[in-house]
Amino acid sequence: MSQEKIAGIRGMNDMLPAEAPLWEHVEQVARSMLRAYGYQQIRTPIVENTQLFKRGIGEVTDIVEKEMYSFEDRLNGEQLTLRPEGTAAAVRSAIEHNLLYDGPKRLWYIGPMFRHERPQRGRYHQFYQLGVEALGFAGPDADAEIILMCHRLFTDLGLIGLKLEINSLGQAEERAAHRKDLIAYLEQHTDKLDEDARRRLHTNPLRVLDTKNLALQDLVSAAPRLADYLGEESRAHFEGLQSLLKANNIPYKINHRLVRGLDYYNLTVFEWVTDKLGAQGTVAGGGRYDPLIAQIGGKSAPACGLAMGLERLIELLKEENLLPEEEGCDVYMVHQGEAARAQALILAERLRDAGLNVIFHSTADGGSGSFKSQMKKADASGAAYAVIIGEDEIAASAAQLKSLRGGEGAEGQQRSVPADQLVEAVIDAFVSASE
Ligand code: HAM
Repeated sequence: MSQEKIAGIRGMNDMLPAEAPLWEHVEQVARSMLRAYGYQQIRTPIVENTQLFKRGIGEVTDIVEKEMYSFEDRLNGEQLTLRPEGTAAAVRSAIEHNLLYDGPKRLWYIGPMFRHERPQRGRYHQFYQLGVEALGFAGPDADAEIILMCHRLFTDLGLIGLKLEINSLGQAEERAAHRKDLIAYLEQHTDKLDEDARRRLHTNPLRVLDTKNLALQDLVSAAPRLADYLGEESRAHFEGLQSLLKANNIPYKINHRLVRGLDYYNLTVFEWVTDKLGAQGTVAGGGRYDPLIAQIGGKSAPACGLAMGLERLIELLKEENLLPEEEGCDVYMVHQGEAARAQALILAERLRDAGLNVIFHSTADGGSGSFKSQMKKADASGAAYAVIIGEDEIAASAAQLKSLRGGEGAEGQQRSVPADQLVEAVIDAFVSASE
């Protein structure tokens, strides 16, 4: 009797084979783009000390307050957390391994992140981020380059409708002065605030400005604006970024309410948004985080970065029908009889030695099935050629090479090839089909 099924965990997705080509396509385009900008890959563990995220992301952020998967290490009682994002860990690793000893570094990573948010379309408990961190760069050119790189990735994937929103969060002292006035303003209106806003009023009032509650929009629009508290240097940085974006023809909108959900940012913050994915329309977000390196124990150095949610990016590609061309295999090996099976396995290896992609016919019952049913499988595999070996071919030390698509004359053409010349014959067939 079969056992009860065990289901996967809510909010955590399987990437199924049908989706794999799209994920691989995105990763491949991203990798070549990252190379073009001089980024180097870094892989950090999925689990980190909880303190890293508390100190890095901020104690009073939603992520740290309610979304982290934390647990105690059985051996030593240490508090550990499944990473909710990649920046703090990349910085931790850069400090630990002294990566900045010979100057700034451009790092990138890809991998699963974990947040215990209420799952809905585009919002998962486990999701993938592609992230970049430019450590040790101070100027607005570094912010601009990251935005340009992200724009290039979208363009290379065929996405053109994403909108860029930018803002400046200034420096800590500027935010403190604004915060004081903002709290005083919000305190005058506590009766109108919702529960979330009341809770954040004294802990993280900037996030009140970010509210999605429509009833609060008028109140929020009339609140003191951080932009009016920025000093000369902060303004110059923001203007510098804007003129670089203009010079590179990157359209953007200044969104004064854009504050981001992590506390490490200063100066530039930005997001790429779409209205095609419903409520979870932010595909990528990032900004400058100059205080973070010192905050988690390193020698103070400026930095900025970005991460994009790959599920959202992939969903958008599907929505826009921007799918990569399907790649079938090159050769399907059809065989019948013990000797033919053994010979086919050897020839399949030789074809793979020559760089070809080969599917070797196998069945659930260990037999081979009829030639007819094997040929159906060969057709369905998308292979360009079938190599067929039966008793006659074994006797003649040969193999049949059959074209399944065009190429090698008309579709369905078949010819006998000496077994020791099969690899050359298949390669020649591919070459003449491409001419
Ligand atoms: P973030 O805005 O929290 O930033 O996340 C970046 C992106 O990850 C989001 O724009 C979204 O596409 C995706 N994302 C976030 N949460 C979820 C979720 N629950 N389900 C699906 N996708 C999600 C960061 O994480 C920063 N570390 C970015 C950064 C890098 N800033 C500087 N360097």
